[in-house]
Amino acid sequence: MRIFKDEEKLSPEYVPQELPHRENELNMLKTFFSSILSGSPSISTRVIITGSVGTGKSALAKLFCQKAVSEASRKGLDLKTLYVNSRISKTTFSVLRKLIEQLRARLPERGLSNEELFHRFLDYLDYKGSYAIIVLDEVEVLLREEGSEPFYLFTRVGEERMKIPRISIIFILRNLEILDMLDQSTRSSLLGNIIYLKEYDFNQLYDIVKYRASLAFRPDALEEDSISMIADLASERGDARYALDILWRAGKYAEAESSNKVTPEHVRKAAASVYPTIRREHLEYLEYDSKLILFALAKALELEKSAYVTSSKLNEYYRMVCEEFEIEPKSYTSFWGALQRLDDLGIIRIKVISEGSRGRKTYISLPGIPTAILRKELEPLLHNRQL
Ligand SMILES: Nc1ncnc2c1ncn2[C@@H]1O[C@H](COP(=O)(O)OP(=O)(O)OP(=O)(O)O)[C@@H](O)[C@H]1O
Ligand SMILES: [Mg+2]
Repeated sequence: MRIFKDEEKLSPEYVPQELPHRENELNMLKTFFSSILSGSPSISTRVIITGSVGTGKSALAKLFCQKAVSEASRKGLDLKTLYVNSRISKTTFSVLRKLIEQLRARLPERGLSNEELFHRFLDYLDYKGSYAIIVLDEVEVLLREEGSEPFYLFTRVGEERMKIPRISIIFILRNLEILDMLDQSTRSSLLGNIIYLKEYDFNQLYDIVKYRASLAFRPDALEEDSISMIADLASERGDARYALDILWRAGKYAEAESSNKVTPEHVRKAAASVYPTIRREHLEYLEYDSKLILFALAKALELEKSAYVTSSKLNEYYRMVCEEFEIEPKSYTSFWGALQRLDDLGIIRIKVISEGSRGRKTYISLPGIPTAILRKELEPLLHNRQL
C-alpha cells in the first residue's frame, strides 16, 4: 500500500467531517433549523437544497444531520435524522416504509392508506417524544411518479395536526423547475428556504481534492500537478463527484504500477475511464424499461451515426430491443414518461425543436458517456431481470 492510507474515505457513502467551500451553506442550514438546534422546537422547518450534479447537496444534508443530532442531544432533545433517496424509493408508500424502517418502529404496513400510515409515523414520534429531520433526496423521481401527494403529506398534513412540530424536512433536487408540476398551494408552502449550491470553480475543486486526498492518501502520494489537473478537468462541470472519481481511480492506477506517487499520467489514464454524468448506481436502480430504452438509445446513436435521434426513431429501436430481450414493449405514453425520468436524472437530454409549420420534433441525446461503454454497463443488468 504505497498510495492509499484509507481508501474508504473516497467512497461515495463516506461523509467527510468538513465540506470546504460549503461553510456558509452549512451555517444557513443551522440558522433555518435553529428552532430544533436550540433544544425547544417551536416550528417545523422546510428547506430545499438545489444545485447541479456533484455540487455537494447530499453531502451537505448528511453532514448537517450528523451535526444536528449531536447538537440536539447536548440540549437533551431526542432528534432522529431520516434519509430517503427517492431514486431508490420511488413511491410515497416506499418512502414512508423507509422512514418507518429507520425509526425502527413496528407499524402495520398493510391495509393503511399513505395518509394513515403517515399519521401512525407521527403518532410514534409523539409517543416517544422524539423529533425528526427527514431528508428526501433526488425527489424528482418521486414527483413524477406521485405528483403533489407526498409533498402535501409531508408538509400540510403534518402542519394540520401538529401541536408539537415533530418533523422538519430537507428536500433535495437538481432543478427547481420541476416544482412547476406541483399544485399552487403545495408549491408555495415549499418555496420558503432555498439553498442553491453553485457549481464549484477550479480553486474550490483544488481545495476539495486536496482535502479529500489528505484523508485517503499517504502524505505526499499526490503530486501538486495532479491536483491541478483533476481540478481543471472537473471545473468544466463544477462537479466534485467527478473530481473524486478521477482522484480515486488515479490512485488505483498508481498503485497498480507500484508507483509511490500519483502523477499527471495516472490522472490522464483515470480521466479516460471516468464518465461524469453516469453513475453505475444510477443505472442499477433504473426500472427495467428505462434500461431497455437506454440500451436502445445507445444502439440507435451508433447505427444512425448521429449526435441525437428523434423520439419516434428511438421508439422504433426500443421496440426492436424489446423483441431481442423478449419483452412486451410499453405504450408510447409510458415510453415517453420513462424518457422524461431519464432526463431528470441527467442521463439523457431531451430537446424539443419547433420546425415551423411542420410542428415540433423531439430529439434525444446522450451527452455524458460513449455509447459502447453504456451498452457494456447495461448488458449484464438487462440479462438479470430481477434488478
Ligand atoms: N465541499 C466539498 N468538500 C469535500 N467533498 C465534497 C464537497 N462537495 C462534494 N463533495 C464530495 O463530492 C461527492 C459528490 O457530492 P454529493 O454526492 O453531495 O453531490 P450531489 O450534489 O448530491 O450530486 P447529485 O446531484 O449527483 O446527487 C461526494 O463524495 C461528496 O462527499
Ligand atoms: Mg446527491
